[in-house]
Amino acid sequence: MKAFRFLFLLPSLALLQCTAPTPIEKKEESLWRGWNKYQIKEEDSLARYGRELIERTSYYLGPNGKVARMSNGMNCQNCHLDGGTIPWGNNYSAVVSTYPKFRDRSGTVETIVKRVNDCFQRSLNGKPLDSSSREMKAILAYMHWLGDDIPKGKKPKGSGIYELKFLERAADPSKGSLVYQSKCASCHGNDGAGLPTNDGGYVNPPLWGPHSYNIGAGLYRLSRFAGFVKTNMPHLQASYQKPVLSDEEAWDVAAFVNSRPRPTMDLKNDWPKIAKKPIDHPFGPYADKFSEQQHKYGPFQPIKEYIQ
Ligand code: HEC
Ligand code: HEC
Repeated sequence: MKAFRFLFLLPSLALLQCTAPTPIEKKEESLWRGWNKYQIKEEDSLARYGRELIERTSYYLGPNGKVARMSNGMNCQNCHLDGGTIPWGNNYSAVVSTYPKFRDRSGTVETIVKRVNDCFQRSLNGKPLDSSSREMKAILAYMHWLGDDIPKGKKPKGSGIYELKFLERAADPSKGSLVYQSKCASCHGNDGAGLPTNDGGYVNPPLWGPHSYNIGAGLYRLSRFAGFVKTNMPHLQASYQKPVLSDEEAWDVAAFVNSRPRPTMDLKNDWPKIAKKPIDHPFGPYADKFSEQQHKYGPFQPIKEYIQ
């Protein structure tokens, strides 16, 4: 069965173009890609429901949620593309294989439940989901269906978010504003509020403002945002085979979007060991001599060299 996963990718090789920006991975068969959702067995209703919750989080758990009202109207899939199955689309390939694991952000060993709730509380600026709820069990069942064949401890190539090379300069919100106007605003709006539906969800999700991810979310770190948009945005145009943004555009638009207002969160319990903060964590205190400004926008290379 597994061989089929890659077969349908072959025709897309023909789509590779020789224009800049260049493809970042040509040997695509070496990248993990998740199973198609229609391969979930009919009788596996829990995993099916889990996939549904990832795709339509807002419908079940958003501001007008059918099951509970506990999140901002975004869907998990807005950031974990196609149910978390796309190479460098912030996929879920390494979730089951690497959790439970120790994470420096909390300073504790985290289960998948805790990690899922991190995204509910930060990326969806909402409340945690009860670990005994059918919804949490369904999300876990889906994660297992997707990642059970990955050996324990392994992270497949193409998992998570693409690591973009650092710029030599600081990322520049004013340059990023121009990128935003020409390549993002048509869908995400001049005010970053996205395109809402009339039931509390979105056709195009918000990028800043009260309904967006909060300052404790992964995307609030510049490298996460820049890497995500490099291989995935503009939506349906860009992919890792055919990125649309140059590296500079990706960093600058990240700087612009993350310089806009968004919900806050109490982060005082994060990073109990300050020396473990990621280079681009934008809030001090730090174990090094660099400013919050430089930790937020770069240049990051000098920080990296200082820490090593
Ligand atoms: C606004 C964007 C966004 C949304 C919406 C979002 N996430 Fe995330 N999620 C992230 C980012 C960013 C990461 C960290 C990726 C990294 O650092 O490589 C992450 C990481 C994760 C991880 C850990 C992945 C790993 O391999 O370690 C899980 C599990 C997860 N999210 C589940 C969810 C679930 C379930 C939802 C919906 C309730 C959700 N996320 C919604 C952005 C988002
Ligand atoms: C054609 C419309 C379109 C364009 C243009 C577009 N996006 Fe998106 N974007 C989307 C959609 C739709 C999603 C959600 C994808 C999904 O749910 O499958 C999304 C998701 C996102 C997300 C993660 C979810 C969130 O709201 O935080 C980010 C970040 C993002 N886009 C940034 C950008 C940036 C930066 C640009 C410009 C370089 C851009 N997008 C251009 C439609 C678009």
